[in-house]
Amino acid sequence: MSDAAQPIAPPRTFRVTSFGCQMNVYDGERMAELLGSQGLEEAAEGENADLVVLNTCHIRERAAERVYSNIGHLSKRGRRADGSAPLIAVAGCVAQAEGEEIMARAPAVGLVVGPQAYHRLPALLREAVEGRRAVDTEMPPQAKFAALPARRKVAPSAFLTVQEGCDKFCTYCVVPYTRGAEISRPYADLVAEAQRLVEAGAREITLLGQNVNAWSGEDEKGRAVGLAGLIDALSDIAGLARIRYTTSHPADMDTAAGKALIAAHGQNPKLMPFLHLPVQSGSDRVLKAMNRSHDAAGYLALLDRFRAVRPDIALSGDFIVGFPGETEAEFAETLKLVDAVGYAQAFSFKYSPRPGTPAATMAAQVAPAVMDERLQRLQAALGRHQHAFNAASVGKRCHVLVERKGKLPGQWLGKTPWLQSAHFFADAAIGDLVEVDLVEAGPNSLAARPV
Ligand code: SAH
Ligand code: SF4
Ligand code: F3S
Repeated sequence: MSDAAQPIAPPRTFRVTSFGCQMNVYDGERMAELLGSQGLEEAAEGENADLVVLNTCHIRERAAERVYSNIGHLSKRGRRADGSAPLIAVAGCVAQAEGEEIMARAPAVGLVVGPQAYHRLPALLREAVEGRRAVDTEMPPQAKFAALPARRKVAPSAFLTVQEGCDKFCTYCVVPYTRGAEISRPYADLVAEAQRLVEAGAREITLLGQNVNAWSGEDEKGRAVGLAGLIDALSDIAGLARIRYTTSHPADMDTAAGKALIAAHGQNPKLMPFLHLPVQSGSDRVLKAMNRSHDAAGYLALLDRFRAVRPDIALSGDFIVGFPGETEAEFAETLKLVDAVGYAQAFSFKYSPRPGTPAATMAAQVAPAVMDERLQRLQAALGRHQHAFNAASVGKRCHVLVERKGKLPGQWLGKTPWLQSAHFFADAAIGDLVEVDLVEAGPNSLAARPV
């Protein structure tokens, strides 16, 4: 830590910019609420903020590099009203992984705070204002949740982090290092927070966790429950119409709690027919080298169990191409799996070697040009399946949760139960559940007509 910095005027306005996964989005919202409770005001759109919190992601090299280019840009152009430089705070997973390095490399950064320590933002801010640059990357499990202010106004579709961290140690992944070991937030806290989210305007809640289906807790009678038990409790909240969860891991579907979760898809009408279950590869050799616990056949069999209870369930996944040693034949197995599943949507990435992970030093790293070419073929296949899934939805009647205005007058945008974007013209408002017929399919969205 350096003490070279000078005291600065306390910030009056702030902006939180989140990168990476939905859990970072949730953390970003909570940091904004915390700063708001300290009397700071969110900067208006297009205006410079006195304090900028970069809530960063470390998952791939490009994501991690983005923080330094953002810092450079902000320190040149982000001037405060009096012409001074803004206070830059780095939060999130890059902060956790490279806290001291950021301080050394970027003198413009006034404070660094990890994903488990951001409840201490106000105290760190005071230190930074006094000219003492501060780093806090402690990982006290759950301390932050108790120390955060209550939820205020939220969008109709809200996030709720229920589980954090990962014990799986896939050989390519930084998450177990940046987010720590798996922990579950207590049942009663989550029911209370969900209630407050609904009071603050949420109609849909997406339960979040790096391995959300590993969540476990005790209900009000002290009985052990898994995610399905929590979902059942939340579905008793009258104003809550829809429940989703993400991201799931195949390994945690094979337990008793996993079985209950699969069953819930056939029983709980508030639980939406959508499953994001990353597979990463269709090759058993690659899956083993990745330290994934499943093989391709086991993964497909698991999806069949979901389809047996909820035949219309929309499936989503994550893929990595070019894992060290991946051959053309092994990549072809991924394409085969994609065709076998018929995903409604998916995320796909080129393998990115991450310092400190086992895969980064494996032999036979795949050439970037080969990765590019494989990613293109994979994305073309995924795009075809997404379009086909959308086309097969035409003619269905369903509800769309209105999330925002469209570009055209009188047009609204929202999501179907299968998490497709739908647009339609109606006399509606944000937060409405509008019953529609799906009338026309595009590659990424559907046109709908109110019933
Ligand atoms: N816990 C979730 C995913 C967390 S990270 C799960 O296990 O499914 C989100 C996605 O980023 C991963 O599913 C993986 O597809 C991708 N990813 C993670 N590390 C990566 C790396 N080093 N290079 C490329 N993609 C990566
Ligand atoms: Fe990363 Fe694997 Fe954990 Fe997912 S399960 S967060 S990919 S280590
Ligand atoms: Fe990125 Fe951290 Fe999420 S590395 S994907 S922000 S858990």
